[in-house]
Amino acid sequence: MDRTTEIGLIKEILGLAEQKSAYLDEAIAHSPISRYASPERFERERAALFRRHPMIVAHSSEIEGPGAFLAKDFFGLPVLLARDEDGSVRAFLNVCRHRGAKLVRETHGCKRLFTCPYHAWTWTNGGALHRVPHEAQGFPELSRADRGLRRLPSAEAHGFIWIIANPDAGDMPDIGTWLGQLADDFNWLKMSEHRIAEVETLDIQANWKVLVEGGLEAYHFRVAHKNTIGPYFQDNLSTYRMFGPHIRSVLPRTSMPDVQTAPEDTWEIRRDANLLYTLVTNSQLLVQQDHIMWFHFEPMAADHTRVRIATLAPRSFPDTEEMRERWAKNQLITKTTLLEDFELGEEIQAGFASKGNPSHLFGRYEGALNRFNLVVEEILAN
Ligand code: FES
Ligand SMILES: [Fe+2]
Repeated sequence: MDRTTEIGLIKEILGLAEQKSAYLDEAIAHSPISRYASPERFERERAALFRRHPMIVAHSSEIEGPGAFLAKDFFGLPVLLARDEDGSVRAFLNVCRHRGAKLVRETHGCKRLFTCPYHAWTWTNGGALHRVPHEAQGFPELSRADRGLRRLPSAEAHGFIWIIANPDAGDMPDIGTWLGQLADDFNWLKMSEHRIAEVETLDIQANWKVLVEGGLEAYHFRVAHKNTIGPYFQDNLSTYRMFGPHIRSVLPRTSMPDVQTAPEDTWEIRRDANLLYTLVTNSQLLVQQDHIMWFHFEPMAADHTRVRIATLAPRSFPDTEEMRERWAKNQLITKTTLLEDFELGEEIQAGFASKGNPSHLFGRYEGALNRFNLVVEEILAN
C-alpha cells in the first residue's frame, strides 16, 4: 500500500465519522438461503470455484528449507507439497503412480526421496520416478516419464503456497495478476518475512460463506462482540473496496479520530485500524498493528467448514518466551472473538432448516457481503 492510499483510507474514515455516517451502499440486497444450505449448490461451488481458481494452501514458513515437505488432505484431495534443493516448491497429488497408495503418510518432514509404503516405488521431491523394485522383469518398457507424480498447478508468492486443487487445471496463473492491485498491499505487508507463531484448527457447523460474511461488516461489533473487541472499534463504521474478486475492508479503532490533532506524516493506518483482506477463494487476512491473523477456510460440506486460525508474526521479532506468550495471548483473543461469530454462524445455519427466511437481508451497511456473494455467483455462472 502506498502512502497516498494509506492517508486516503484514513481520511475516508475521518470524513464519515465527522458526518456521523456509516459507509453506505446504494441499496439493500437479498441473499437466498439456498446459497448456504443446498448440498447441490455446494457441489457447484466445489467444481467451479474451489477446483478452478488459485487458493492458498500453506504459509511458506510451514515448508522451510531444501527437502521440506507437507502432506495434507485439502478440499478432498490428498496434497503433497515438496521443496527441492533449489528452493522451489511443487504440489503433487499424494497418490502413488503404481497402484494408488497414499505415498507419504507423515504430515511434514524433510526428505529428498519419497518411497511408497506398499511396494517401495520411489520418487524424488521434484516428482520424478527414481526407483522401481524388480523393474526389469515386472515392468518391461516402463515409461518413467509417464509415471512422475501428478502435479497440481502451484506457485509461491507473498509468503504463501498457492495451488489449484485440480491436476487438470492447466497452468497456474500469475499470482500478481490474480491479486491485481492488491499485490501492492501484499508487497507492503511483507508476508514472506513472517512465520506462523500460533495455529489451531476448528470444525464449524456452518457454510463457509456465512463465516466469511461475519468479517465483512462492523454493524455487529458493539453487539455480538460487546464483551471482547467491540469497545475498541468504532460503532458500525467500516469501509471496503473491491479488487477484482477480492475485498479490502478497513475497520477503524476508537483511536482513529485522534490522528486529526497530529501531523499527517505521523498517521499509520495499522495503528488505528484493522485491515481485512478477503481473498477468493478461501482466506481472510486480518492485519493488526504488528502481526497478521490468517483465517483459512476449507469448506467440507454445505454446513461444515474447517477453519484454520494462524498468527503470522514478523521474523524481526525475537523468538523469546515473552514474545511467545504475547502471540499466544493475541491468538486467544482473536479465537475468542471468532468463536462469538462462529457460534452465531452455527445458529444461522441450524435455522435454515426452519425455512423462516427465504433470504437474508443485507442493509446498506452490509454492502461488502452482497458484493462477496455476487463474486461467487459470477464465478458459478461462468
Ligand atoms: S502402490 Fe505404491 S508402490 Fe505399489
Ligand atoms: Fe465478528
